[in-house]
Amino acid sequence: MQFENALTERYCAPGEAITLAANATAGIAAALIALGVKGNVLIPAFTFPATLSAVVMAGARPWVLDVDTETWGISADALEQALRTGNHEAALVVVPFGVRIDLRRHFEACTRYGAALVVDNAPGLGAAAAPLPAGRFMEVYSLHATKPFAIGEGGAIRAHRGESELLRRALNFGLLRGAPPNGTWGINGKMPEISAAVGLAVLEDFGAMLAARRRAVSRYIAAMRAHSGLAYVDELDRSPWQTFPVLLPSAEMLDEFIARAAAAGLEIRNCHRPTLEDWPGATKTGPCPVSSSLSQRMACIPVYSDITRREISTIIGIVDASLAGISLHPA
Ligand SMILES: Cc1ncc(COP(=O)(O)O)c(C=O)c1O
Repeated sequence: MQFENALTERYCAPGEAITLAANATAGIAAALIALGVKGNVLIPAFTFPATLSAVVMAGARPWVLDVDTETWGISADALEQALRTGNHEAALVVVPFGVRIDLRRHFEACTRYGAALVVDNAPGLGAAAAPLPAGRFMEVYSLHATKPFAIGEGGAIRAHRGESELLRRALNFGLLRGAPPNGTWGINGKMPEISAAVGLAVLEDFGAMLAARRRAVSRYIAAMRAHSGLAYVDELDRSPWQTFPVLLPSAEMLDEFIARAAAAGLEIRNCHRPTLEDWPGATKTGPCPVSSSLSQRMACIPVYSDITRREISTIIGIVDASLAGISLHPA
């Protein structure tokens, strides 16, 4: 409760509250259960498989949609069209790499079509967030060891305060102490006390961790300017920066970049290959060429909460040399 209250105070708008979960996958599943979603849920093809797992875990059906070239997420127009032409109860919109995108039109489209919207912003806790509009809307963060706010395993759901009880039930087998059953079921998605204690300790140092991450990314952004043909976000305050995503012009160039960096001792990851387009349990709303192309060209440059200035310089040196070694023009 103490950790929940502390996160609520720091990251919620008035009228909102954080509910903690065992991890973000359970948190998203609980959000869908609490919002009464049982049918078709739109999800992006370009995401980590947990997005889809959470829908299945909630007893709903994932419908995969392509993403947009510019934001790397589901566009408001694509969402609106899918809601207009399909039978979808909800959307699970991912904030790509925790780099905030404008979701106002997404919320409006869901309101128009009576759909719930859960924002999967797994790596995004720490960046300023817009208040949730009135309606069936929630946002979920991961506190996994790989995320900026890292406690081992954990999840946090930001919701309208009135929905906290439903979330608690959904995370506790459908049970709420002292209350009669309400006709909904639940999962075992509770955060253990020991994880909450770790969370309270992390919270004390989180400001310094964020500052270190932003310092690294601001130097990465400056270094990227020397190379043409790359796409990346250059607004520091849009993310707590789990990683620094950079889009290369072609799959061949990405493979060469990764190989050159690895030879120099730096692991650059490629996200999210494969996409969820043909993932077991998924139904496609249509082909997903943008997601597929992004997944073959996306490089994730490492960022750490305890990264030193010297490590940043070493990473930049390897990234620079590796990029300079390949020709950055579309094949
Ligand atoms: C977009 C996205 N959603 C959900 C998750 C799942 O988070 P957790 O590991 O806390 O269940 C992840 C994990 O990396 C993720 O990247």
